[in-house]
Amino acid sequence: MKAAVLYEVDTPLKVEDVDLDSPKSGEVRVRIVANGVCHSDYSIIHGVLRSPLPMVPGHEGAGIVEEVGPNVSLVKPGDHVVLSLAPYCGHCYYCAIGKQNLCVNMFQTMVKAAMIDGTCRLKKNGKDIHHMAGISSFAEQAVVAEQACIKVPDEVPLDVVCLIGCGVMTGVGAAMNTAQVEPGSSAVVIGCGGVGLNVIQGCVLAGASTIIGVDLLDNKLDYALQFGATHTINPSRDELVRSVRKLTGGRGADYAFEVIGLSRTVEQAYACTRQAGTTIVVGAGSRRDTVSIPMGTFLTEKIIKGSGYGSARPHLDMPRLVEHYRNGRLKLDEMITRTYALEEVNEAMTALEKGEVARSVVVM
Ligand code: APR
Ligand code: ZN
Ligand code: ZN
Repeated sequence: MKAAVLYEVDTPLKVEDVDLDSPKSGEVRVRIVANGVCHSDYSIIHGVLRSPLPMVPGHEGAGIVEEVGPNVSLVKPGDHVVLSLAPYCGHCYYCAIGKQNLCVNMFQTMVKAAMIDGTCRLKKNGKDIHHMAGISSFAEQAVVAEQACIKVPDEVPLDVVCLIGCGVMTGVGAAMNTAQVEPGSSAVVIGCGGVGLNVIQGCVLAGASTIIGVDLLDNKLDYALQFGATHTINPSRDELVRSVRKLTGGRGADYAFEVIGLSRTVEQAYACTRQAGTTIVVGAGSRRDTVSIPMGTFLTEKIIKGSGYGSARPHLDMPRLVEHYRNGRLKLDEMITRTYALEEVNEAMTALEKGEVARSVVVM
């Protein structure tokens, strides 16, 4: 089968034939129908997020189950599924306290860039190719843990709901689960890309009354308004903190979301919040980049919180997101600016880098 392989940081993905082993116990083989292009793929390709290589990126996929390995009970061949980044075990400490997105067993897939048992199913000439987030969906097929498969109704378009696999869950979840945005509150969203626009949608679903989209690109600010922002700020023109204060009764925002992955913008988000307000860091940044916070500000009881995968409880939240899409409360079709073939995956990366798209989708 064909897949897009990253051999070295800062080089184009190579679309070529690779081998895919059969699913082992608890695993299934999925024919990928479509896969959204996320900034985290870009960050892997450019070494901002480090990973063992070679690897097949792609982690925002949806498809149809073709084959199940031994001991699989959650799905069967023919099921339509959105792929979750958090194939949680259900019995570790974090699963027990309802933090499935922090499952210790699932973290193996991230740390080792492999399946949960630490081995790879992708191969080329007998040598291992690593998996991204236990998914690797820039490929015609993928072997994934059965817990990564979130069954969706047959009639929902997989080339649209694939976005739920990462950007939508991460963004909407950051607002609804991590921040638990209160109705009537104010929120600033710094970075209005594929994930940030979904933070805006999450704030809308939660009933926030003031939602301020912030981005350096004016086309992104237009998207922000389309997805529910009530105001926008371009910090290259207007001083950010002062502008936010003006829109929030002079106090600063109740919530500020950083959705880029840079220390500088985390510091800006923190400065935008009111006393006892909450900053939520959604962006995935480099380990070498560190945030600096003035000590004196802790007296104001400001809160700063990380958010991983929108604090997802995948089997609860993802079907809910599908329902929100089906009843028109979650805009997904509008999110897809362009589609590409797998062979065009490098062009999709360039479009993301240049900020030309809200989201693009690689359709197999
Ligand atoms: N100030 C304001 N906006 C900025 C700045 C800045 N200094 N730098 C970049 N941006 C904007 C870009 O113009 C773009 O619109 O941030 C947005 C990032 O969007 P995408 O590239 O589409 O990235 P996305 O897929 O949304 O991911 C955002 O979330 O999951 C993580 O790894 C992901 O860290 C990444 C973040
Ligand atoms: Zn992603
Ligand atoms: Zn667990």
